[in-house]
Amino acid sequence: MTEKLEIYRCKVCGNFVQVILNGYGELVCCGEPMELVKPNTTEEVKTEYHIPVYKYTDKDGIIIQVGKEPHPMLKEHYIMFIETISEDKKQVRIQYLEPGDEPKMLLDKKTCKETAIEYCNIHGLWEGKSD
Ligand SMILES: [Fe+2]
Repeated sequence: MTEKLEIYRCKVCGNFVQVILNGYGELVCCGEPMELVKPNTTEEVKTEYHIPVYKYTDKDGIIIQVGKEPHPMLKEHYIMFIETISEDKKQVRIQYLEPGDEPKMLLDKKTCKETAIEYCNIHGLWEGKSD
């Protein structure tokens, strides 16, 4: 049984899917059960560049930056997307990124507490919380 907004990965082909609405069946891809991907929530202090951080600025409004120190955005190592999920799980926003982009997402507003997740092509899924 899946849960709303869980993320699953196919170990064979790399398909990466998110559950919009949950059901009872097992997710299968390439003939094998898909693997549940849980976000990391802690990171060693000297390499703190994966956990999404909310920043509040006068100029740009709310920025979610990946890492206290911005994460690299090179072709071989970059952030593929940032997603926000409201505390009540009624609102989801996603920002896809490419190498060369800044590792951040701009929000025009935030009306409740939320979780931000991001996916690094090398180091996987990470999670941070808003205030
Ligand atoms: Fe990384």
